[in-house]
Amino acid sequence: MDKISIRGGTPISGTIEISGAKNAALPLMAASLLTDEPLLLTNIPKLSDIASMTELLSQLGVSVTLDAPRNMKLDAKKIASTTAPYDIVRKMRASVLVLGPLVARAGEAHVSLPGGCAIGTRPIDFHLKGLEAMGADILLEDGYVHVKAPKGLTGTTFTFPTISVTGTENLLMAAALAKGQTRLVNAAREPEVVDLANCLNAMGAKISGIGTDTLVIEGVDRLHGTTHHVISDRIEAGTYAMAAAITGGTVLLKGAHLSLIPIVAALLTRAGVTIEEKEEGLLVTGSPNRLEGVDVMTEPFPGFATDLQAQWMALMSLATGASLITETIFENRFMHVPELCRMGANIVIHGSSALVRGVPQLKGAPVMATDLRASVSLVLAGLAAEGTTVISRVYHLDRGYEELDEKLRACGAHIERLK
Ligand code: EPZ
Repeated sequence: MDKISIRGGTPISGTIEISGAKNAALPLMAASLLTDEPLLLTNIPKLSDIASMTELLSQLGVSVTLDAPRNMKLDAKKIASTTAPYDIVRKMRASVLVLGPLVARAGEAHVSLPGGCAIGTRPIDFHLKGLEAMGADILLEDGYVHVKAPKGLTGTTFTFPTISVTGTENLLMAAALAKGQTRLVNAAREPEVVDLANCLNAMGAKISGIGTDTLVIEGVDRLHGTTHHVISDRIEAGTYAMAAAITGGTVLLKGAHLSLIPIVAALLTRAGVTIEEKEEGLLVTGSPNRLEGVDVMTEPFPGFATDLQAQWMALMSLATGASLITETIFENRFMHVPELCRMGANIVIHGSSALVRGVPQLKGAPVMATDLRASVSLVLAGLAAEGTTVISRVYHLDRGYEELDEKLRACGAHIERLK
């Protein structure tokens, strides 16, 4: 299994091109199931999660081809299977995104329940309750959820008990082909949901309220193909902004937009980082002094993303004073804490909060990645630490960061992949 070795202490400097957003690309790929015409997606990132979704869609009968390295054509002329098997779902929870489109187009779906994961229990009950409210029958058997709506789905009003990103996306896709009007209340407002809604409208859907917490969908009989450009990855942009910040370097994040990371940018600025909007993207410059501790609470968009919490914690490990980091989205997303502590960080967990008392220096150590964002927080810590950090289980990184080692190496980081 690959490892990543980092010799820390060099400020990173240069240009990093931000890739297309993984969490936008995955639901967009699933949306191809809604039409018998080809969907062309441009700006698709090269990631192992994208490969997993490609494998799943191929099994369902979708022809997936790459016209160019980042241009993916998905053609679901015929649905060959309505089953998302355990083998793929357990590798990637986002597989559950085929549920809504399959039920809407084929009248049924059989999707393995994903089970828990490294960051929490992560049930899919809202997805199922929403589909049930739209008239589907739900049966749980053999670890699979069997959803049937042979006569089609019917529009309804569904209120999410708490905000769910993929829950909103699944019901949005299902409602696009339902009979009549669906109102999704307390819907997620994440840019990835907005991107999906815009693509669905380009495919002939009738969705209004995009970007608000109430989505109104007038169902249509059929959708058609279109070409859609995937938005840039705000989590990747936030991560590299923090890489510049933690090493005291300067990086131009090509293709990054302030509107996608408003709170992160504001908090980085408060900590002492300079962020300038340029024509090509965002120019991030670390501080010549130690950063200041700033408290953070994760929240649905436009709040501070849970997917940047681990990276923020690495940053705060080296700040002056203390920072209180509260995780409100997932119940078990502090797996990086013991690993950061092995590198010399001073972090104490109290329930859903972590108190980070900044230390002047981290020290390189062998550490273990547990999930995608936890892994990258260890990369950030390694970039700043004295000595060498070796991170194992880097397959987590390959799920969500395209060419991470190449991108950082091009900015002067001493980072290499050990095969
Ligand atoms: C999406 O996961 C992202 N994944 C996650 O990205 C991200 O961390 C998360 O949203 C929050 O922003 C994709 O977009 C593919 P949720 P999702 O449903 O949709 C609870 C990454 O690193 N909940 O918004 O699965 C749930 O347990 C990742 O790229 C229910 O209780 O997250 C959680 O506490 C990992 N029942 C909260 O809601 C449900 O039916 C929000 O989860 C659904 C969710």
